[in-house]
Amino acid sequence: MTQNRSTWIGCSLGGLLVALLALQTMPQGTEGANILGVFTSHSPSHFIVHMSIMKTLAEKGHNVTVVSSVPPKVTHKSINHIVVPMSAEDEKVLNDGMAGMVKEKPSIWNTMKSIFSSLALLIDKQVDVLEDPRFQELYLNKGNKFDVVFVGFFFNTYQVALGARFNCPVIISWSGPPMMMVNEVLGNPELSSVPQMHISAPPGQPMNFQQRMQNFASTLGFNALNIFLNHKYNKFYDRLWSKDKSMPTFAQAKRNVSLAFCNGHGISEGPIRPNVPGVIEIGGIQVKSKPDPLPEDIQEFLEKGKHGAILFSLGSNLKGEHIQPEVVKTIFKGLSSLKQQVIWKWEDPKNTPGKSANILYKKWLPQDDILAHPKLKLFITHAGKGGVAEAQYHGVPMLALPVFADQPGNADKLVASGYGLQLPLATLDVDEFKAAIKEVIENPKYAKTLKSFSQLYRDRPLSPQESVVYWTEYVIRHHGAAHMQSPLVHMNFIASNNLDIYIIAALVLYIVFIINKIVWKFVWRKLFGKSNKVSKGKKVKKQ
Ligand SMILES: *[C@@H]1O[C@H](CO)[C@@H](O)[C@H](O)[C@H]1NC(C)=O
Ligand SMILES: *[C@@H]1O[C@H](CO)[C@@H](O)[C@H](O)[C@H]1NC(C)=O
Repeated sequence: MTQNRSTWIGCSLGGLLVALLALQTMPQGTEGANILGVFTSHSPSHFIVHMSIMKTLAEKGHNVTVVSSVPPKVTHKSINHIVVPMSAEDEKVLNDGMAGMVKEKPSIWNTMKSIFSSLALLIDKQVDVLEDPRFQELYLNKGNKFDVVFVGFFFNTYQVALGARFNCPVIISWSGPPMMMVNEVLGNPELSSVPQMHISAPPGQPMNFQQRMQNFASTLGFNALNIFLNHKYNKFYDRLWSKDKSMPTFAQAKRNVSLAFCNGHGISEGPIRPNVPGVIEIGGIQVKSKPDPLPEDIQEFLEKGKHGAILFSLGSNLKGEHIQPEVVKTIFKGLSSLKQQVIWKWEDPKNTPGKSANILYKKWLPQDDILAHPKLKLFITHAGKGGVAEAQYHGVPMLALPVFADQPGNADKLVASGYGLQLPLATLDVDEFKAAIKEVIENPKYAKTLKSFSQLYRDRPLSPQESVVYWTEYVIRHHGAAHMQSPLVHMNFIASNNLDIYIIAALVLYIVFIINKIVWKFVWRKLFGKSNKVSKGKKVKKQ
């Protein structure tokens, strides 16, 4: 008995020693790391995703500095912000472009047009942020040392060189599921047989012909766009860093990205596709797992409704003034005739579409917290990725009124998934509008489908917040993550498409064919050559 006991103590002491030794050999140094986030794209909805990552890291006790062109909505008191705003003129050009798009029906053509007009400006203006003295101060001031730098991706791949600029690992933050241009820097396979981020094949179903066609065409289209963008990136790169001898080439910098946080969750949202270890899915990072208390007026307004409530918001890019007056009238007519309480996101509180006891106008809304409220029956949305994710998380059915960019795709997807309905905003009809609202609220199938989705969406080994903390600290601990890079990152076009192997295979086949031909000729001659000659000879003799 005593012997047993002493061996037990011995064992546990040994165990403790091993554990202590293990602790000592564990890589250390992620306490209070210095983290820099550079988010130059002028999109508030993307910025919310990036800031949710930064906030998560600040809450863990890291020293976070953020450079952005948009002032933050989501933040943390300890985050050090440097805002380099867009000029008023550029802002106006962007706003006018947006107003133009809203008036037209969403279509692939209009989406393409929007890509090439507003996007060109959005892409070009990002370089200005990096040239701004407020940003350059961060690396000219040698006292600043960063352990990792985050680059918010938005057609700005040249910015991955910030890792070399600050001599630290670089992580990409992207506001959607893995997409081609992020896959390119991570070596994540991009094949036309792998569904692109906007293709939704229902679970357990193949891609049908139309989807495969769409997938193939969009893979080609994105490749073409990428050639054009890479040309631009090279120019930006030269403009920013060609004079600096300490900087690597763009090609070298592009091969040095540690990982990418992608705001998607393939298992529940699709598309199901292979991902390399450098792709870390954090879908829903912007959704709070526990809602904050609502402002009093909103809380009271929601509680008052006996028939539940509706949230109506067309997002942060789209202001009320962009929508045509007739459409606003239609929306007001529809919403004011309902028995539900309606919270309407409206920019100008002095100039509202009309007064109605069941409508509360709000310039700014805690959208996520409102969607979490049990009274909420319907979310009428422009189908931006962020809002859709929040509604999905909280299981609120949707009526989508998509306008441009990724919104029509998101709307198609939510309708195909059975999370709600969609209508075109530009040609909205009041009866259709009311009928769609009634259907989504009264038919229980939408809420039921969403509930089972929501359960899958939340069932993960690590929450989005835990993933962000774990993988960021992992990269800091190991000074980058070169060991888990996909070999594809270091392979050129010929190698990654096996073109050389095809050429060798063709050569080998050709040689085999030639040898075969020679051998058969030889055999043929041996077998029949003599008798031929003989018969010929005989013929000659006979003559
Ligand atoms: C936090 O980061 C900023 C920017 O690099 C730096 O100036 C500051 O000294 C850091 N604070 C701490 C406590 O390390
Ligand atoms: C590659 O990343 C490391 C950190 O992981 C960084 O120190 C180095 O400067 C980077 N090199 C290039 C060529 O980008």
